[in-house]
Amino acid sequence: MSFDTGRGRVLGIETSCDETAAAIVQSGTSVLSSVVSSQVDLHARYGGVVPEIASRAHVDLIVPVVAQAFVEAGLSDRPVEGASCDVDAVAATYGPGLVGALLVGVSAGKALALAWDVPFIAVNHLEAHLYAALLDEPELELPVIVLLVSGGHTLIVHMEDHGRYRVLGSTIDDAAGEAFDKVARFLGLGYPGGPAIDRISVGGDPTAVRFPRPMLGDGTFDFSFSGLKTAVVNYVRKHPEVSTPDVAASFQEAVVDVLLTKTRAAAKAVGARGLCLGGGVAANSLLRERFLDACLEDGMPGYLPSWAMCTDNAAMIASAAWYRWRSDGPWPLDTGALPNLGLPVA
Ligand code: KG4
Ligand code: ZN
Repeated sequence: MSFDTGRGRVLGIETSCDETAAAIVQSGTSVLSSVVSSQVDLHARYGGVVPEIASRAHVDLIVPVVAQAFVEAGLSDRPVEGASCDVDAVAATYGPGLVGALLVGVSAGKALALAWDVPFIAVNHLEAHLYAALLDEPELELPVIVLLVSGGHTLIVHMEDHGRYRVLGSTIDDAAGEAFDKVARFLGLGYPGGPAIDRISVGGDPTAVRFPRPMLGDGTFDFSFSGLKTAVVNYVRKHPEVSTPDVAASFQEAVVDVLLTKTRAAAKAVGARGLCLGGGVAANSLLRERFLDACLEDGMPGYLPSWAMCTDNAAMIASAAWYRWRSDGPWPLDTGALPNLGLPVA
């Protein structure tokens, strides 16, 4: 079944964590605007996201951010009497994420859909991260293997078709981004940790310390990062004189090595047509560089979302929404937030 999506213009709203974002995307791939208001400064002094502060900031920012998305797209958010609205549907992330933060986006999305008399589409944040690569590569051919690495998740996903996913591997403890954040905090590099480690590693020697590669040769596509974090802590306590850039670079090297070795093995195992990266950690410069090297070496097309599409944004929400809308139709207006939502698997 395929639903009529009109001009296919979707307003996407993202408020699952600490970015308030809105975007307008046409037919799943054409980005007309994408606005992201980061709350990083509000949370930095606490060393991590404070849920209540995030929810309150989303309430303050959501209306101006949505208005800005219309301005940047050259569209109007005030349909004149009798005319149809400039967007054909409104989509919002309904999970996973912080419940108070999600509720702001879901409530705003449903209210706008009701006011403008257009369908409402609820979007799974993890599914949206899978779509980020598609925004830059509309011609991308499925099936692909996607390595989805964010602050909350580390997944190797076989994306067989739109809406048809198989999770081949995941983390048994910390997510990759969480490991970056925890190691950065231990090293006194501040929050968010991933970009800080990325930056400081440029001046470090990645071979200075040979940190363990957890679960590398175990024959599964699963990960474990908690032991690696402990190895860093133990090493620095034992060798307080070690240079921080060397530790950061060696840690980053270990994470990227494990992530890519397993992803390549998964792609070979299922005979994928290509490899994709997604999620905030996909903004990591070493991971991006090694990913492209690996694709070249394996003779496999590699799809790398632009830096802005790796971290949380609403263009990926509007994109995933359009594919879901086309296949499943609109969502009911009594849809709530699901903080522990998983990836929908076939
Ligand atoms: O996808 P995302 O923006 O939010 C979640 O859905 O979790 O990912 C955020 C995570 C954080 O853990 C952050 O430290 C990490 O992505 N991250 C990075 C980099 N930029 C963001 N990790 C490593 N290197 C980076 N350049
Ligand atoms: Zn995310």
